[in-house]
Amino acid sequence: MRTALTHLTLTDFRSYGRAEIALSGAPVFLVGPNGAGKTNLLEAVSLLTPGRGLRNVALAEVGRRLPGEAQGRAWAVAAVVEQDGEPARLGTGLESPGSARRTVRLEGEPVPPGRLADLQRQVWLTPAQDRLFLEGAGDRRRFFDRLVFAALPTHAAHASAYEKAQRERMRLLTDGPADPAWLSALEARLAESGALMAEARARTLCALQEEIDGRGERPFPQARLSLTGEWEKMAGAGAEIAEIEARLARSLAAARERDAAAGRALTGPHRGDLAVIHAEKDRPAAECSTGEQKALILNLILAQSARLSRAESAPNPILLLDEVAAHLDRRRRAALFDEIEALKLQAFLTGTDEHLFEDLKGRAQGVRVDGSGLAYLDTE
Ligand SMILES: Nc1ncnc2c1ncn2[C@@H]1O[C@H](COP(=O)(O)OP(=O)(O)O)[C@@H](O)[C@H]1O
Ligand SMILES: [Mg+2]
Repeated sequence: MRTALTHLTLTDFRSYGRAEIALSGAPVFLVGPNGAGKTNLLEAVSLLTPGRGLRNVALAEVGRRLPGEAQGRAWAVAAVVEQDGEPARLGTGLESPGSARRTVRLEGEPVPPGRLADLQRQVWLTPAQDRLFLEGAGDRRRFFDRLVFAALPTHAAHASAYEKAQRERMRLLTDGPADPAWLSALEARLAESGALMAEARARTLCALQEEIDGRGERPFPQARLSLTGEWEKMAGAGAEIAEIEARLARSLAAARERDAAAGRALTGPHRGDLAVIHAEKDRPAAECSTGEQKALILNLILAQSARLSRAESAPNPILLLDEVAAHLDRRRRAALFDEIEALKLQAFLTGTDEHLFEDLKGRAQGVRVDGSGLAYLDTE
């Protein structure tokens, strides 16, 4: 389902006092010097999905704070999103400074944040992910979960139910003699949501690999993917969800003492990881150049987007690609633009130099970001 944001308004959001922009639905490139507010704008867009946005920070932190001000202001991001030409008004923000929860509104009425995923989904790639293949599994897991989530929004609910039960179980285990019945109840909840998570990841991986293989030769390196976590492997090997759930519950019950001593849970899908191999070179992504790693990740994002674009009932993803263009050589950059256009995706791309987007002129909207303001660029 073709999905695009057609209007954006930011109020007291980071460097922006008030900024407003009308969008055509075509790709958007944002240019401006360092510190101009490009990433801030993408972050504002990213908060139109459930969660903490692309910088993964507390929601009170994104409110505008002038020098000397101790606390960020109440902020708002409002948007019009069109699905197959049908507009809907979305908004989110903090109603008072420092509040821990944000409000989400659809057509002016408060709705749970999960509703945002009905209207649009996003996948992002930021400079913070440049070391995705070099550092711990956490960032890779979050990146892959976002791809899963773009296809299966219930994945986010399962992940947050899992995290909540996980925290409670660890509190019980570390606070001293725990009621075994209560522990079992929490472990049952963990096993239920954990099995669903593992299954959703395994299913997405399989579909994604099939898509990548089916797309054949591309300017982006082909990837061979695998999930290395125990539970995802079990799901990938065809185990029933009930089977995974039962085994996970047994493992958790058996691991109480060990987990209490370690101060963290040593088994479960929160330990899963994604392994990526550069197929032509037969080399793990971690051994590839920075540019190749970026291209590998982009290939995953584009393959998932292509897959979702064919789905009639789900919105196709909006891409937030922060400082991605600068990492790519001209051929790959042009290929990225071509693919975004062919898939009819709304992508927000940023860069410090207008030249990076030369090949997009005439088929994208250009915006100059300058301190706290936005201005349309002539892109004829
Ligand atoms: N809460 C805030 N209130 C006001 N300004 C902020 C806030 N958070 C960040 N900034 C400002 O935003 C700027 C960074 O913007 P950013 O979007 O990251 O720049 P870039 O265009 O390089 O991506 C910094 O100069 C910083 O001072
Ligand atoms: Mg930036």
